[in-house]
Amino acid sequence: MIFKKQLSILLFLAGSALAANAQTTANLSISNDSKLIVSKYIYGQFAEHLGHGIYGGFWVDKSMPVEKQDRIRLDIVKALVKIKIPSLRWPGGCFADEYHWRDGIGPAEQRPKMVNTNWGGTTEDNSFGTHEFLELCSLLHCEPYMAANVGSGTVEEMSKWIEYVNSNSTSTVAEMRKQNGHPDPYKVTFWGIGNESWGCGGNMTPEFYSDQFKRYASFAKNYPGAPLKKIASGPNSDDYNWTEVIMKNIPDYFMWGISLHYYTVPTGNWGHKGSATSFSESEYFATMQRCLKMDTLVTKHSAIMDKYDPEKHVALVVDEWGVWTDVEPGTNPGFLYQQNSLRDALIAGTNLNIFNNHCDRVRGAALAQTINVLQSLILTDKEKMLLTPTYHIFDMYKVHQDAKYLPIQLISPDYVVDGKKMAAVNVSASQDSSGRVHISLVNLDLHNNITISTALKNIQWKTVNGQILTSANITDINTFDQPDKIHLENFKGAKKDGDNLVVVLPAKSVVTLELQ
Ligand code: AHR
Repeated sequence: MIFKKQLSILLFLAGSALAANAQTTANLSISNDSKLIVSKYIYGQFAEHLGHGIYGGFWVDKSMPVEKQDRIRLDIVKALVKIKIPSLRWPGGCFADEYHWRDGIGPAEQRPKMVNTNWGGTTEDNSFGTHEFLELCSLLHCEPYMAANVGSGTVEEMSKWIEYVNSNSTSTVAEMRKQNGHPDPYKVTFWGIGNESWGCGGNMTPEFYSDQFKRYASFAKNYPGAPLKKIASGPNSDDYNWTEVIMKNIPDYFMWGISLHYYTVPTGNWGHKGSATSFSESEYFATMQRCLKMDTLVTKHSAIMDKYDPEKHVALVVDEWGVWTDVEPGTNPGFLYQQNSLRDALIAGTNLNIFNNHCDRVRGAALAQTINVLQSLILTDKEKMLLTPTYHIFDMYKVHQDAKYLPIQLISPDYVVDGKKMAAVNVSASQDSSGRVHISLVNLDLHNNITISTALKNIQWKTVNGQILTSANITDINTFDQPDKIHLENFKGAKKDGDNLVVVLPAKSVVTLELQ
């Protein structure tokens, strides 16, 4: 028995040694043969009235000992300004289709209360409403993306909300905004027409929803300086029929974009999604396979859109994405509070690479959901806050916002676990307006460093530097006791070799290089 155990340890060690000696070179070529732009809106965020995303996240009690404007936490604002978030989607999510905007304006103490039936049955006091959200966006220097209630609202309600926010006329509703403290129109251009209308937003068929969309969109009016970008509620994951019907039934001039929602659920089982912090290598591998499914989804939905809109007028807006695990033990299951490990960082880098590489069609996205909910950028514990590994990825990748897309060709070695394989490396690249080239690389392999030889076609450069995010273990996290365990560091593993760039990309890492 003892002998058997020792033998299996020896076999395990031999296996690890073999894994460490596996083929670990990749070939990459990057050209500047493109006119496409990586839209900054790919780097958008999402904040729903859910758990401690808004209340106890952005919006805190007056007594909380942190710097605030009104009740908005300024340490959070400062952190998000640093990573240049371009847009913030609000008020949901499922909450959007039970939200009535008139409840959230005027003196706070007179606002009606409601029950948040989707998320934990909490009492919503409406203290955070339209003005507070738009004040937050102004502090964040980002554009608001507001989701109108189609499920339980009316055309009139949505139409008046847009008028309230955007009109400078003397109509009663525009005057009301002025009396509530904002004389100038806010000029909000991004509007979602419902959310998940196939599910919590009304359980509609795509045929019924496309008629509803046309009806609502007809009364979503443009006001001076605010031409609307209307975004249709799009498919759930691989519901290709939804995309087909919407694209067939809604003329492209009617909608700026169509949304796509897809979450990486580690186990693939919504009843038991898997832990955010404790998982085996097999579970990690399965999670990354599910994460990479985003590429297939974007490719296939785009192909359907191409049939009806070959000139790509309509954007695919992946306005809910990220990893969705079981909640942290002891927390309210309705609040979707989860920790964020190095795995989350690799998931974020991989998804952003996918979106960058599909920037011909993906011209907007929103990570779910900014603070304390799902794959967050920031976690808070009363007055304490920490930046998650995912935050650092958005920090590194901000250089791609509105930069010129650079096409890539990559031959990657495989990452093999339990006889199953996937490409170990994924990459995207862009060139900013001052000519600097940025290359973001993800190594999903937990064991092997990978040497990447890169040819750059028609790109002149002299120097390279970069940043890396990695840690000793894939399950490592930042905690309130050790908030900087995972942080960005300067990367020294890239050098110029003749005209080529040679990078030694460490196992389980994300790197962004700058060539100039
Ligand atoms: O992000 C959490 C929820 O996921 C959203 O409210 C909903 O749109 C989706 O199902």
